[in-house]
Amino acid sequence: MTEDPSPGQPIPPQVPRVWAVGGGKGGVGKSVVATNLGVAVARLGLRCVLVDADLGGANLHTMLGVSAKKGLASIFNHESASLNDILIPTGIANLHLVSGAQALLDMANPKHAQKLKLLRQLFAIDADIILIDLSAGSSFNVIDFFNAAHDPIMVVAPTPTSIENAYHFLNAALHRRFMQAVAKAEVTELAKKALADKNANGLHSPRELLRYLCHEHPDAGSAIGSMMAGVRPKLIVNQVRREEDMHLGDQIAYACHDFYGVKLEYLGGLRSDDRVVSSILDRKPLQATQPACQFSTVIEGIAMRLINRDREAQHG
Ligand SMILES: Nc1ncnc2c1ncn2[C@@H]1O[C@H](COP(=O)(O)OP(=O)(O)OP(=O)(O)O)[C@@H](O)[C@H]1O
Ligand SMILES: [Mg+2]
Repeated sequence: MTEDPSPGQPIPPQVPRVWAVGGGKGGVGKSVVATNLGVAVARLGLRCVLVDADLGGANLHTMLGVSAKKGLASIFNHESASLNDILIPTGIANLHLVSGAQALLDMANPKHAQKLKLLRQLFAIDADIILIDLSAGSSFNVIDFFNAAHDPIMVVAPTPTSIENAYHFLNAALHRRFMQAVAKAEVTELAKKALADKNANGLHSPRELLRYLCHEHPDAGSAIGSMMAGVRPKLIVNQVRREEDMHLGDQIAYACHDFYGVKLEYLGGLRSDDRVVSSILDRKPLQATQPACQFSTVIEGIAMRLINRDREAQHG
């Protein structure tokens, strides 16, 4: 771990923390956000590893301007034993990349055992913050990486289609969490029965189902309640053009709490900025070349907030 941070520098977490950036829609800016957040974390003095888990469309190496000879594929092929062996320096102090390039087509849909192996390896990377960039969509593979992270971060753009996909993504992620909690509390049958006749039982949301389970089986209900209370998805709205869209995050957070009883934290809005597009053409993250611009300042603020959240989580 990083030692003796200077005054004003954040203190690294005691154990590595995993952040995952996802969101249903393609092209909303997940990779832009992940890359620039990674640079921000590194600039704050914490050791960060960016992991490109978009095996069908890896492009973090391009955004960082590095060549990716070895990547996640070599773990699937058993060419490399550990992700720690394939860290690529990015030219930015404290920042390394695990590339998703060179992956074969079938690697985008790993089998269950491969997925578990990869998850174990991700949590064993030698860094302070491990930041995973996920692919678009709401498949179980994407959702499982999103849900496994300490800080699952959803990126949404303020367009009707992106918002629609974001709700679908959130629904898929929270439903999977909820049903896993139900299974752990050993009340799957009770939940299934209640859902089979949900209209008669007046169940229109997972929140109401939880209330029902608490009534029918208080111990299981409170166990599920505490498991779901620990779920804290985060949200970033990207490519904002209209002032009113800065409030979109609050609306999604409200809907999430109303439907699931889950507190979603809105981390902030990022404006649409031509410099972001130029930075991709130049293959140099904006956070590295123009750390004082508005986009970079907001990203740095979000990185600080997440690091502080991680410290609060570790210290209870
Ligand atoms: N804040 C921004 N301002 C201007 N343009 C942006 C911004 N964020 C993203 N973009 C544009 O959106 C494009 C897509 O971004 P990015 O590749 O990060 O999306 P993605 O969600 O990772 O896509 P995919 O689902 O295909 O992985 C970028 O190439 C850039 O042109
Ligand atoms: Mg991407």
